Amino acid sequence: MKIAIIGFGTVGRGAYDILKDRKEILAQYTEPIEVSYIVVTERSKARLAEQFGDTVVTGADYDRVLDEVDLIAEATGDTESAFDYMKRALEKKIAVVTANKAAVSAHYRELVELAEKNDTPFLCEAAVGGGIPVLTPLRGLALQNEIRGVRGILNGTCNYLLNAMYDDGADYAEVLAQCQEMGYAEQDPTDDVEGFDTRRKLHILIEMAMGAIDGDAIPTRGIAEIDGDIVGYLKARNKKIKLVASATKTARGIEAVVEPLIVDADSALGVLPLAINQVQVKGHWVGDVAFTGPGAGKEPTGNAVVADIVTAATKSDLPLLRRESLPLAGVRGRYFVAYPLEGDIVDRIDDGYAITKEIERERLSELLPDTAFFARIEGDEWNR
Ligand code: HSE
Repeated sequence: MKIAIIGFGTVGRGAYDILKDRKEILAQYTEPIEVSYIVVTERSKARLAEQFGDTVVTGADYDRVLDEVDLIAEATGDTESAFDYMKRALEKKIAVVTANKAAVSAHYRELVELAEKNDTPFLCEAAVGGGIPVLTPLRGLALQNEIRGVRGILNGTCNYLLNAMYDDGADYAEVLAQCQEMGYAEQDPTDDVEGFDTRRKLHILIEMAMGAIDGDAIPTRGIAEIDGDIVGYLKARNKKIKLVASATKTARGIEAVVEPLIVDADSALGVLPLAINQVQVKGHWVGDVAFTGPGAGKEPTGNAVVADIVTAATKSDLPLLRRESLPLAGVRGRYFVAYPLEGDIVDRIDDGYAITKEIERERLSELLPDTAFFARIEGDEWNR
């Protein structure tokens, strides 16, 4: 099987290294997998050509690449050019593997429809949860079960950052810079800390497990407004903040949200260390299952890309759920608010922080400036 890796940053290089390391072993189970092309920008080509020679080409050579390969592994960070690469491959019945959450979230339906029309694998395990094998089993779960909920921690950078602040009182900006150095954070870490990366991943999970929704309409709030005093106040009460994505099927539609959640420090989400992610799934036959593992980084994400390449090479991809469109429904909860809030929605003020009564999240959001930190207090909503 001849493949092209498109983009050779953290993820593309991770996949390349693993394929090279496992080449002989994999060849015992699939046809030999050969990286025939590495497609990069003109600037990166000059840098990589010395090591990889003629294997390195640019997007200008893509038609020739498509004439020769059986699979593309797309690992760029861009949305529209990545969509174009994937679309052109699927139209030619060339299998597509991608780690690109932004492109998959923005174009999920078009990509899936193209893949189905052309009877060609479209696999994106690396787009959600880094190294966690979750989308592959989720395809099966969604066929066997009505999936009533998915939720979890889907961003390694935020989990790492929140843990460092909780454990060591670390400085937000310093840890974020560290996350960039370790290859966890996006090129623009705003996507991590404002919750957009998490929203894209939640959108993909919902599409694969529950139904079609407008991903951009999922209410989203990140952790950029947090400070050490808030973390310390909650720590003294054995509580932690986690950036959590959740989607629950209700009679009104999908209650989906990305927001900071205050959980018990020793709860399932509370104990997840470092950049570990977890995806929890509620199926009506299987019950509650959880998938846990490294949510970001070169080797784990590269591993997920290679897993998809092996799935395509062994022709073992499961069908994708046929989706009906579902409306989004508003979320309610009790909130912790780091802003001088007044009025009948306030249950009590403690140490200058407001704790609200149960309230529509959208109503609260409208009352607060963008710079105010607020977090939902975990109740029994997930276990209802
Ligand atoms: N920036 C992402 C994260 C990378 O921190 O989770 C993995 O998708």
